[in-house]
Amino acid sequence: MQEMWSEIDDFIDSHLIPEDPILLQTLENTAQKGFPDHLAVAPNQGMLLQMLIQMNQCKRVLELGTFAAYSTMWLARALPQDGYILTIEGRDTHAALGQENIDRANLPQTIELKVGRAADVLKALPADFEPFDFIFIDADKQSYPEYLELSLDLSHSGTIIVLDNVIRAGDIVNPENHKPSIEGIRETFVRLKNHPRLLSCTALQTVGSKGHDGFAIAIVK
Ligand code: DHB
Ligand code: MG
Repeated sequence: MQEMWSEIDDFIDSHLIPEDPILLQTLENTAQKGFPDHLAVAPNQGMLLQMLIQMNQCKRVLELGTFAAYSTMWLARALPQDGYILTIEGRDTHAALGQENIDRANLPQTIELKVGRAADVLKALPADFEPFDFIFIDADKQSYPEYLELSLDLSHSGTIIVLDNVIRAGDIVNPENHKPSIEGIRETFVRLKNHPRLLSCTALQTVGSKGHDGFAIAIVK
């Protein structure tokens, strides 16, 4: 099945995803430095993030988990020139790669990359930090429940929260899988259910070049 899913993603990308030299350059530099590509979003997924931002005319974006900053570029592409992204990466090697790709891209938006565990970085922000319009949670899955709560503290009514990798090839419904990452995602679903701060929430399974996974999407009340 994987081969067909990848072929269909290629078909979708070749028809619907415009070639963007900045995005290509980011992928190429990442591969050239020997980093794997499975951690990054697929192009058609990046476009979905971009469209959610455009639909809601978001200007301030928070991303947890930068990796190569490929998704960061998609987020930036959706923003007006005075848009702002705070992206946080916990691993030094990934942060260095992400920063290099951000510097090379030379985009007009302000993209601030902070290194550290996302929870620590968020807790260290000033109490009056202006809330975000769009939040993409894509860091260590084990900490998603905590990241969700911290994200809500930095949200306003109407903020969109997207969580990546919430299906993990179905591992979330395998009762024998007790990996911390999988338990973290399960606990996130428990929190998302009837969360008093959320207006609405759903999750969608996806298949494609990145395998079988999915997004959860929530709107803050
Ligand atoms: C992994 C993490 C991701 O954010 C992703 O999109 C795919 C895979 C991982 O840690 O394996
Ligand atoms: Mg991801």
